[in-house]
Order: sequence, then structure tokens, then C-alpha cells
Amino acid sequence: MIEVRAHGRINLIGDHTDYTGGFVLPMLIDPYTTIVGEFTDGDLWSLASDDEPDAVEVDTTIDDPASVRPVWGRYVAGVLHQIRALGLSPRGFRGRVSTSLPIGSGLSSSAALEVAVARVALTGVAELSDVEVATLCQSAERIASGVPCGIMDQLCIASGRPGQATLIDCEQLTIEHCPVPATVRFTYEFIAPRRLSGSEYATRVEESTRANRIIGPLREAKLDRLVDITDPVVQRRARHVITENQRVLDFAHAMRIGDIETMGRLMTESHRSMQHDYETSNELMDAAVERLLDEPDVIGARLTGGGFGGCVVALRRLDH
Ligand code: GLA
Repeated sequence: MIEVRAHGRINLIGDHTDYTGGFVLPMLIDPYTTIVGEFTDGDLWSLASDDEPDAVEVDTTIDDPASVRPVWGRYVAGVLHQIRALGLSPRGFRGRVSTSLPIGSGLSSSAALEVAVARVALTGVAELSDVEVATLCQSAERIASGVPCGIMDQLCIASGRPGQATLIDCEQLTIEHCPVPATVRFTYEFIAPRRLSGSEYATRVEESTRANRIIGPLREAKLDRLVDITDPVVQRRARHVITENQRVLDFAHAMRIGDIETMGRLMTESHRSMQHDYETSNELMDAAVERLLDEPDVIGARLTGGGFGGCVVALRRLDH
């Protein structure tokens, strides 16, 4: 019998910076996905789910994971496919997945499923680093969902430590675990369902990539380079990414020295930047952030993750 667990994540600050090699600062949350089961002879992966009516039955040698049904099986198949692409041979498996993560709420339930599947499938097969596991799971996510996502969710879930934020340099793929100051806590709240597949996520990736080509790398670009971008929309997207990367670094520094006021201010500035420059927020998410900011113990609040719905996070002082 084997049992693995992979937690979900919130992102404290640093959204839409990962796919141009910038900085992000996500953190694991308590809800998690568990896979329990046994290895079997042969190549069949058979996974039932507590949340989905149909079980997944896929061969570990599957060629076309994006065609698997039920649709949630594409994440499973994508991971198995990517493991084989590394020249490794996962064993057959029969088990069950369950999760306390709300699905489709922007808390990375799909990345948690991918990392859990990878941890099971790699058991006794190969010892990969967290970065290697995250990279193969990111590829699986792209195949399964068609969304050209960055590495943040998978790398946070593969490498994060409970109660600590994970500062990720998405270019170097290095990680620093950042303790949360004892005087604050982060909370998150689900506001509206969202799907990145079919959303403007891919458009944002394309716009950022254009900006990156003109004045990049964006992680090193200064704001005075924005004048070189003639398209005003792409210019705004670049301004978000440049300022957001700086906010992540400033936030991590503020965390280290316990400057909670600065942490809160940066989170709210980050939300404003997504609201006006990156345009990944909407009226519901904006209203939720304003409502949170009116609460007496809240020092900062923002939309978290890909956007167009999902969850908001708040930084709250404990001594209030
Ligand atoms: C989604 C993607 C991540 C990242 C965020 C936005 O969660 O999966 O790679 O781009 O959106 O920060």
C-alpha cells in the first residue's frame, strides 16, 4: 500500500511573472489531495476518485494524453506520459484519489493531482528533484489543459513547507523558504469559479512574451524602457510584470525583517496592478478585495493566482 499527499497553494504575491522567468511567492495551504493504492503487474493505471463519477483507466505507455476521458484523467495521463518521456517506466497501479481542495477555485487542485500522481508513479522508479518533478508536472498540465502555464503551482506544491512561503526564482529555478512573521496570518476566501482553459490567460502569456522580446528579460528591465513598447496594452502588461517582480523581492525582504505594514501595502498594490495593468481581475474580485480592506485586522489583500475569478488572499494582524 502506498499513500501520497500533495497540498494546494495560495499565491501571496507575484502573479503572471512566472512564465517570463520572474519571481513568485506562493505558500502551501492545509487542504490536500491524497492518492492511496497498490502497484500492480502490467502497464495499467487505474484511479477512482471520491469527487468524480468516472474512474480513470490509462496505460502508462499512452501516446496522446490530451484525448483521455474522463477529462480529469488527462492530468494523470499527462504525468505518466511525461515520466515516460524521461525514459522511465512507471509501474501499473490501482488506487483512489480524494481531495479536500475545492476544484476549479484557483487553489491549484490540478497541480496537486499532478504532483501526487508523479510521486506515486516515481516510487521505486527514480529519485527526481523537486524541480524535475515540478517541470514534468508543468508539462503535463499544459498537455492536459492546453493552458500555457508557468512553473509556480507545481514547484510550490513539490517543494513547499507547511507554514512557510516559497520564494521561487522562475528563471534559475531556485527556492527560498520564507517563514511568516509571528504577528500575522494569511487567509484566503473563494469568490467565484474560474477556468484558465478558454480564459484570457493564454493571451496574457502571449502579450508578456511580446513585451519580453522587445525590452526583456522583463525581470531585469527598468520602467524607463516601457516607452520602447508602442502597443499601449502590451506596455501595460509589461509594467505589471516589471513592478510585480520588484514587489515580490520587496515583499520577501519585508517578511524577513517583519515589516508587516510594507507586506500589506505591496499586496494591495499588486492587486491594483492586476486590476488596471494586467486586467486579470473583475468586478467581483475587486469588490471582495475592497471589502477585505475595510476589515480592521486586514493590512493588505489581493486576488491570488491566474485570475478571472478564484480566490482572494488577505494579510491579517494577529494582535488586533
Ligand atoms: C496559474 C498558472 C501559474 C501562474 C498563475 C499566475 O496559476 O498555473 O503558472 O502563471 O496562474 O500567476
